[in-house]
Amino acid sequence: MADSLLAIDRLCYRHGDRQAVREATLVCQRGEILGLLGPNGAGKTTLLSCVAGLLAGFTGAMAFGGTPFRPAHDATARARMGLVPQDLAVYEELTARENLRFFGAMQGVARSSLDAAVARGLALAGLDDRADDRVASFSGGMKRRLNLAIGDLHEPELLLLDEPTVGVDPQSRNHLFDSLLALRQRGRTLIYTSHYMEEVQRLCDRIAVMNDGQIVAVGTAAELAVHAGIAGADLEQVFLKMTGRSLRDQA
Ligand SMILES: Nc1ncnc2c1ncn2[C@@H]1O[C@H](COP(=O)(O)OP(=O)(O)OP(=O)(O)O)[C@@H](O)[C@H]1O
Ligand SMILES: [Mg+2]
Repeated sequence: MADSLLAIDRLCYRHGDRQAVREATLVCQRGEILGLLGPNGAGKTTLLSCVAGLLAGFTGAMAFGGTPFRPAHDATARARMGLVPQDLAVYEELTARENLRFFGAMQGVARSSLDAAVARGLALAGLDDRADDRVASFSGGMKRRLNLAIGDLHEPELLLLDEPTVGVDPQSRNHLFDSLLALRQRGRTLIYTSHYMEEVQRLCDRIAVMNDGQIVAVGTAAELAVHAGIAGADLEQVFLKMTGRSLRDQA
C-alpha cells in the first residue's frame, strides 16, 4: 500500500460567511510532488493555510505520517512541514543571507547547523553571488527564489508551495523546477499549488483539481482526462471542463 504522509479528511473552513473549503478530502503520498490546481478563489491558499497551522477553526480531520494532528496546536508535526507562501515573506531591508539566518533561527535550525542551512538556501535560490545584497535591490524572481529557500531552510519532510512562480521569468522558473525536482530526488514530499497547467504537468506526479472549495478529482493528467470523460485531452481542456469557464472570485 502506498505510504501517506498527509491525509486531509472532509476539511471545511469558513472566512466569515464565505465557505472557502468544503469537505476537501486529499491524500499526499510520501515522496511525491502533488499538484493542487484550481482557479482563483478555489480555496487553495486557505487549504494550505489550514495544513500549515496558520488558520485554525476548521472542521474535519488531518493526519501527518499516519498520526492524527491539529496543525495549529501540534508544533512538533508542524516543524516537519515548510510553507512557501503566495505573498512574499522576506525582509526587504535585510540581505539574502540575513533573511536566511533570521528565518532559519525562527524555524528552529540549530545554531551549529545554521551556516550550512544558509549556504544550502543560497544555492537553492541561486543567490550565492548576491548573498550580501539587500533584498530591496532584488528583482521579483530573485525574491521569489529567496522566498522558496526560506520555506525549505529546516529541510521539512513536506514542503507546501503556494504559487511559487508568480512573476518569475522562464530562466528563474527553470531554476526553481530543477531545485524542486532535486528535493524530490532527495526523498522529500511537495504540494505545489498553481494555475499554470504546463508547470503542474511538467512537475507533478499527480494533480488534485480544486474548484469552489472542493477537491473534485485527483490523478495523473491522463487519469483526470478519463475522469472528465475526455480521454486524451490536454490538461487545460480537462481543467476547464472540471472548473467551468466563468471568471472566479467576483462575488
Ligand atoms: N481573509 C479572508 N477573508 C475573507 N474571505 C477570504 C479571505 N481569504 C480568502 N477568502 C475567500 O475565500 C475563498 C478562497 O480563497 P483562497 O485565497 O483560498 O483561494 P485560492 O484558490 O488560493 O485563489 P488564488 O488562485 O487567487 O490564490 C475566496 O472566495 C476568497 O475570496
Ligand atoms: Mg491562493
